[in-house]
Formats: sequence, structure tokens, C-alpha cells
Amino acid sequence: MQASAPIGIFDSGIGGLTVAHAVAQLLPQESIIYFGDTAHLPYGDKSTAAIQAYAVKISDVLLQKHCKAILIACNSASAAAYELVKEYVGSKALTFNVIEPIVNYVGQQYPGKHVGLIGTKQTVSSNVYARKVDALNKDIVLQQQATPLLASMIEEGFFNDSVSQQIIESYLQQPTLQNIEALVLACTHYPLIKHQIARYYQEAIPVLDTSGIVASTLKKALTKHNLLNPNTQKGTYQFLVSDYTRAFEASTRLFFGQEVHLEKYPLWE
Ligand code: DGL
Repeated sequence: MQASAPIGIFDSGIGGLTVAHAVAQLLPQESIIYFGDTAHLPYGDKSTAAIQAYAVKISDVLLQKHCKAILIACNSASAAAYELVKEYVGSKALTFNVIEPIVNYVGQQYPGKHVGLIGTKQTVSSNVYARKVDALNKDIVLQQQATPLLASMIEEGFFNDSVSQQIIESYLQQPTLQNIEALVLACTHYPLIKHQIARYYQEAIPVLDTSGIVASTLKKALTKHNLLNPNTQKGTYQFLVSDYTRAFEASTRLFFGQEVHLEKYPLWE
């Protein structure tokens, strides 16, 4: 592993660019290779076996590109495939997911509290967050609700408007999410609706957008392993997708803060 090597980040599509953006902000000297599996999105409705196959294949692409770290920037893929990816990658690169950093944060900040969580069907039904939170033995009650419409709603550009407001409210009014003292946004698309959600709670409870927490976990680990890029100039970025449409490229602006060029890189051919 070389300190000057890129960080590989992957997601089911372009939603994980919210995590890539947080990494780019915190670690501007790092180069990033992003892989969006747009041919197979959404992962949230796929079987565990299918997500595992995609995740291993993408990790292979990132390893071939000599990435020093592989970050699964997707909750559904982190839930379904992290252990397998970690084993597959072995000592060739550091591996990260988006679940452990937030679970540790919740453990530190909310012992003895009722914490809500929203995510895809795959993330919620995997129960991985609940298992990891329980393992902390911090007496935290995790109240999880699958909110499958939200990711596609955001991808279609519906946020900060009345349509998205109604959908968000009807999910947040579900009995599962009552009397919570914080809410975890367990999907990489949801930072875009963080303000709408916070407004629904009249800013009375913290709404935890995980991308910043994930980026600082990555920074700590790279520092610990002496793998921070020593170059002082800004890192380079490459964005690969398994299927290309102009609409995907246009949507990168939503998730990365600026439109970026996507290169088609089919996973299987
Ligand atoms: N990126 C996925 C996640 O964080 C949501 C989109 C999908 O279902 O593929 O769970």
C-alpha cells in the first residue's frame, strides 16, 4: 500500500458521492476513484447474494487500480457485503463501511436513549445496525423504519418541495419512529433531505448525517497507518459508472456539489 495511492469509494450509484464529497472536503490532498454501480441500482431492493457479487467485483476493479483504501459508501452494500469485501481485500488495502463509524458515534453520544433510523429495505431488514448497537451494551433502543421511496424520490430531483415533504412526513409519522431522541440517516442519499427532516422535528432532535463522521474515521485510520498522502497539491478524481446516461451525470451535481464527468466502466463484459 502506497500513501500516494488513491482511495476507492463505491456505491450502488451516485448517492455515495455525498460521502466522496465529505472525504474530498476533509482530505483535499487525497486522490479518489469513485465507482457507481449504476447498472445495478438500486441495491436497496436486491438480495444479499446479488449485492455481495457486485461488491466483490467492484472491489477487484479498485484493487487493480491500486487503491490503498476501499470505502463502501452505501449502507445497503455495507450491510450485505462488508465482511466479504474485507476478507476478499485482505491486506491489499484498508476497508471501510458507512455503518461502524455511526454506530460508534451513537454509542458515545446517546447511551440509554431511543434512537431512530431510516434506510432502505435491505439496510433495515439486515438488522445490522441493531446488532452492532446492541453489541455496544449501551442500553440504546434502536427504532428502525424502512423508507424505500426516499432514495428514488431524491434521485428524481424531488427534495425541498411539497411532494417530498409529504412523503417524508408520512414516513416520519410511522409508529416505529415515535419518541426518538435522535435520528440516523442510514442511506447515502438522505443528506439532501436532512434540512427537511430537521424542520419536521422543529430542530428539537439531532438528525445524524453520517458522511462527515465516515470521512473523519477514514482520516484517523489513514493517519494511524501512515497512509495519508504526503503530496501538498490537490488530489485527482476519477468517476467510473457501470452504466452511463446523461441523467446520471447531471445528477452528480446534487450529490457532489458540482457536476462531474462520469466514465463508463462496465463490470462484466
Ligand atoms: N446508496 C444506497 C444506500 O446507502 C441507497 C440507494 C440504493 O438503494 O441503491 O443504502
